Amino acid sequence: MKRIVLTAVGGDVADSVSLEAGAGASPATGEIVVEIEAAPVNGADVLFALGWFGVYPDVPAEMGAEGVGRVVEVGEHVDSALVGQRVAILPSFRFGTWATRTVVPARNVVPVPEDADALQLAMLSVNPATAYALLHDYVELKPGDWVGLNLANSAVGHYVIALARRAGFKTLAVVRREEAAEQVRRLGADLVVLDGDDLGQRVGQALGEAKLRVLFEGTGDPGQTAQLVSAVEDGGTVVAFSSVTGQSPVVPLADLIYRGVSLRSFFILSWLRNTPREQLERVYGELSQLIAEGVISAAVQATYPLEDYRKALHDAQTTGRTGKVLFVPTTSALSR
Ligand SMILES: NC(=O)c1ccc[n+]([C@@H]2O[C@H](COP(=O)([O-])OP(=O)(O)OC[C@H]3O[C@@H](n4cnc5c(N)ncnc54)[C@H](OP(=O)(O)O)[C@@H]3O)[C@@H](O)[C@H]2O)c1
Repeated sequence: MKRIVLTAVGGDVADSVSLEAGAGASPATGEIVVEIEAAPVNGADVLFALGWFGVYPDVPAEMGAEGVGRVVEVGEHVDSALVGQRVAILPSFRFGTWATRTVVPARNVVPVPEDADALQLAMLSVNPATAYALLHDYVELKPGDWVGLNLANSAVGHYVIALARRAGFKTLAVVRREEAAEQVRRLGADLVVLDGDDLGQRVGQALGEAKLRVLFEGTGDPGQTAQLVSAVEDGGTVVAFSSVTGQSPVVPLADLIYRGVSLRSFFILSWLRNTPREQLERVYGELSQLIAEGVISAAVQATYPLEDYRKALHDAQTTGRTGKVLFVPTTSALSR
């Protein structure tokens, strides 16, 4: 068995992890062994390695939060019928998916379809669920309502735009590069605006009489947030789900008090903890079916074997990527 392990917190993640080989662990009571087909590199994995994530690493720490694979062994008190089942691993940041095999509690997986692309299924647990929760858990939206998002070319953006289109919601998408704007137009965003000078004014002109019922904010940039908040309706909502700048988003005082715009947040680990198991299975069942049907997907830039972790981690942190970077620890993902 091979796996990527974090040995020190901080610095360049490619230097703070190493590839270990050894005997695979056996499942304890309630656990299962999953052979990994594919597992993405997410921004959260890098934040985790830097010690800046909501869970602090207890080194040596297994790396990789989500992925898809097949159950190959089960421990006591786990239904043996699970052996052979294809599953997606839900993130916990306690056990790693950048490995040929991983041992996880049986409750940390959900079944996924056989007839879907492994790379897309590997990305099911975090970003599609995030997009789903952003669209369902904050504001009651109806067809024709406008939602706004920045980081619109991100994987989260891909899923938000596709799920919003399916539900009949209109999307105002903000990106920071023209190539990204083109990609987001092809995804079907209704309005695409480039970040830059007079962003708020240009967004207002693009929307005309319309206002955003909700804004999904991923930059953390207080300046950009303030400009976009001006397009949010009175009493509307901003949901902070990411901060790629490392800053805290700010709702200007007048919008907060005089217009009643509220600032809320989303964190996948809280959502997983607080959502009843039955509902989780329903949501993941629906999302994995949409993946199988090709209705939702994220762009993929490259896949790598575990041995090429330095290149994979470098690529994953490069500006201007065209899609996600994934590990393919076993050959089964590519042979499908
Ligand atoms: N709160 C949660 O539980 C939760 C759940 C899922 C994801 N997230 C977060 O959501 C974000 C998107 O995740 P993802 O996996 O969809 O990302 P992704 O596909 O890797 O895309 C990253 C996005 O961030 C943009 N970006 C990076 N640095 C930037 C900067 N300094 N200023 C402006 N834009 C910048 C990129 O723009 P370019 O293409 O122009 O570089 C791209 O749009 C990540 O920060 C992730 O950690 C949070």
